[in-house]
Amino acid sequence: MSKQVILTGLRANNDLHIGNYFGALLPIVDMVKNHSDEYQVNLFVPDLHSFTTPIDHNTLYLQTLHNLKLFVAAGLDLQNPDLYLYRQSYIPAHSELTWILDCFVGFGEMSRMTQFKDKSQTFSEKESSSDRVTIGLFNYPVLMAADILLYGASYVPVGDDQTQHLEFTRDIAERMNNKFQADLLAVPLPVAKQHEFFGKDQGLRIRDLADPTRKMSKSDVSSKGVIFLGDTPEDAATKVMSATTDSEAHIRLDYKQQPGISNLLQMLALLSKKSLDDILHEWEGKSDYGEFKTAVADRVKAFLTDFQEKLVTVDEQALLNKLESSEQAMNEVANATLSRVQKAVGLRKS
Ligand code: TRP
Repeated sequence: MSKQVILTGLRANNDLHIGNYFGALLPIVDMVKNHSDEYQVNLFVPDLHSFTTPIDHNTLYLQTLHNLKLFVAAGLDLQNPDLYLYRQSYIPAHSELTWILDCFVGFGEMSRMTQFKDKSQTFSEKESSSDRVTIGLFNYPVLMAADILLYGASYVPVGDDQTQHLEFTRDIAERMNNKFQADLLAVPLPVAKQHEFFGKDQGLRIRDLADPTRKMSKSDVSSKGVIFLGDTPEDAATKVMSATTDSEAHIRLDYKQQPGISNLLQMLALLSKKSLDDILHEWEGKSDYGEFKTAVADRVKAFLTDFQEKLVTVDEQALLNKLESSEQAMNEVANATLSRVQKAVGLRKS
């Protein structure tokens, strides 16, 4: 019997930051380590999702490869035979299944998607024109459903901002199964089961240094509060030293009253691979924020120096070889699903 599939995609528009590293890259790398053998892991870059909002198209291709290299630098093992690493656009079935599913999805249903509402609102305010909100952005969840359904994935670790899309994926799969045939598409497990499997504590931990009430975000325009994995260690240290804190002169973990200090405590724990309790034991009650920030800045510097050293040694040819073999294998799997759906909807002889 073939292995159950765990599938995850990470967008590659911008440079990733340490929030992504601890919230996504590292958990994914650990997940591959811990679950392969028993599961097949599909890790892909949704490059067709990358320009649902405007990007610089001159950098997309290399940015995609660069982000994949970040995974390798974070410890992803390209030799792992249970790992499939691929780019969405190299598997044309994603686009084709999206179109077919589109014709079974309601306009109102997509209009109610929270991420679409948020992004399209922010965007049309910024551009003062709703014509700049693309059909691509509207259609985002359907493409994401195709990403998952083509491979019959059971487990899809997603953050809170994506759970609605995962629920939609289950809905559309069940809708197709009810309308056409019961086993047409495998339905991924419900969100609660995903959380049971992965633990529900991913992705949201590190906050913006300048505005610690918000999480660190790669699409943030001002990058003062964001530590990118490509920042020089010195620049990153400066960002830590100018992090927004408070005037209480008392280190403690209290995200409501002291979000800046709490965020730095969390960062220090992650960077020094210690538990938050251990860090609190060392720092709680102290009043010298300068000393504390210096400790965090030093850790950040050491982390980036080490990570960037690893990054330059990543073997690009090995990465390209892995992509090529995975993309070949995944085209076969995806095409088999697509062909089943094409038959079901009457495009092919059944
Ligand atoms: N929408 C996801 C995000 O922004 C990325 C993504 C695209 C994805 N397709 C997916 C994640 C399929 C999991 C499964 O984070």
